Amino acid sequence: TSTEVALLNPTAVAAETNHVTKEVTVLFGSQTGNCQVLSEDISKRLEGQGYTVTLSSMNDFKANDLKKVSYLLILVSTQGEGDPPDTALPFYEFLHSRRAPKLEELQFSVLSLGDSSYELFCQTGKQFDARLEELGAKRLSPRVDCDLDYDEPAAEWFEAVTQSLNENMGEDDSPTSLTTSNTSSLTVEQSSYSRTNPYKAEVFENLNLNGRGSNKETRHLELSLEGSNLAFEPGDSLGIYPENDAILVDSLIKEMGLNPEDSVPMNKNGDERSLRDALINNYEITVLTKPLLQKISEIHPHKDLAELLQPENEQALRQYFIGRDLLDLARDFAPWEITASEFVKNLRKLPARLYSIASSYKANPEEVHLTIGAVRYEAHGRNRNGVCSVQCSERVEPGDTLSVYVQKNVNFKLPTDPNVPIIMIGPGTGVAPFRAFLEEREEIGAQGKSWLFFGDQHYVTDFLYQIEWQRWLKSGVLTNMDVAFSRDTENKVYVQHRMIEKRKELYQWLIEGAYVYICGDEKHMANDVHATLIAILEQEGAMEAEEAADFLTELQQEKRYQRDVY
Ligand code: 2AM
Repeated sequence: TSTEVALLNPTAVAAETNHVTKEVTVLFGSQTGNCQVLSEDISKRLEGQGYTVTLSSMNDFKANDLKKVSYLLILVSTQGEGDPPDTALPFYEFLHSRRAPKLEELQFSVLSLGDSSYELFCQTGKQFDARLEELGAKRLSPRVDCDLDYDEPAAEWFEAVTQSLNENMGEDDSPTSLTTSNTSSLTVEQSSYSRTNPYKAEVFENLNLNGRGSNKETRHLELSLEGSNLAFEPGDSLGIYPENDAILVDSLIKEMGLNPEDSVPMNKNGDERSLRDALINNYEITVLTKPLLQKISEIHPHKDLAELLQPENEQALRQYFIGRDLLDLARDFAPWEITASEFVKNLRKLPARLYSIASSYKANPEEVHLTIGAVRYEAHGRNRNGVCSVQCSERVEPGDTLSVYVQKNVNFKLPTDPNVPIIMIGPGTGVAPFRAFLEEREEIGAQGKSWLFFGDQHYVTDFLYQIEWQRWLKSGVLTNMDVAFSRDTENKVYVQHRMIEKRKELYQWLIEGAYVYICGDEKHMANDVHATLIAILEQEGAMEAEEAADFLTELQQEKRYQRDVY
């Protein structure tokens, strides 16, 4: 019957019944993969409603093709300090340049993902939205800015977009009536577990990779994925839903004069649980954001808090956020008279933490390994702990379970050709995905050369996975390895210093078509390594600085230069 055909291929039916085929282009700029997953999901839904969808990452899209697009949906995230994701950068720059075409025929809408704890919240999405308008394009529906917990606002945005699309093509053309019930049948999931339905993974192993006397604590976790159908490729990440530290939760409840057993909503469905349980499992209590303080200020009229929120004190407010959490807020703006429910209603949901997977699924099916650096520091007279990393260090034992899901990362992938050489730069926990790369290459018998640059503070205590690299060096799975231990010598030695020492050979590898991967700290390491690559190209390839930078941009576009930085 026609319904069956519609379920299988709604677009074909739309064409057959003489409906105008409506083409929608969905472009995403994703760093951790959230925008990509959302884009894939809405594309399937749109196809399910009879639209023809062109789905593309911004870095695979020819910017000049924009002139041919009538309906454009942009889903883009914002990096920490207001920057576009790496993969969105060339498209972003093109669109903001003088070369950008007039787009008067274009209708568009933007969904922007961000984190309201950063000053320039959803900046990249806002810029795309403003720029498209400037170029003459019209909005299908208003931009929606999403905080970490984006599911609901994203769904509302999609609702508004589809309504507008349907109105635009008029009742007669509208393909929605053909296939309204088939969206779920099109979303063929390999596993029933996902970000919104995490799998409870049993912990097999939890070891400290650092030796006695190290400044660091890096945990190696092995989790079971048995029966979950969760699969992954090297480069993908694992999301973990952490728990807040009960001691911190108890201090916060006490400071606010609340009863830990008071019943509070744990989500918007109206499900309730005790305040204590909700603060441990459901809500974020370690990050302060401006929207949070504004909402709290409305129900908690405290002179100093109101003062801090005055527009002229914006800088002081940003300063206040640094290194402080909700317990500081509770102490600094006491006494409190709000109820437990009023309080939690204003909190953000506790978001999952993403970790680059350190194992190969092919080599260890139904398991997943992680390399997690415990984050501990002191600020404003109190010891502070990373929520998930310190939970994994102090409160997770073999036999316990963690709520997890797999986050695909198409922007960090081994070359499809196993003969292509790879250069991997991963100091500290940045080495995690490279353990997965080598396990995979060993498992499939790949012949391509590989080169690892690893660095950490001390050789004796911090050489993560030393025995494994040495085994792979011996067997030839790993061809070259250079290490930089920064605190064993008077002057610090970093991975980029080793790269400079090996610049001739590195350049040779690049010319031979090697892929380059950087994983780890973004602000310092990744930028310095990037600058070092440019310096090597200048010296060895006799390029001008600008040429060298363009060369790297080209590599990036060809996916021969990939970064997983945080
Ligand atoms: P440090 O802690 O002695 O400064 C993993 O964390 C390794 O990366 C450590 O040896 C650390 O050195 C080093 N590191 C710190 N800043 C770096 C940078 N800008 N570039 C490369 N490595 C860096």
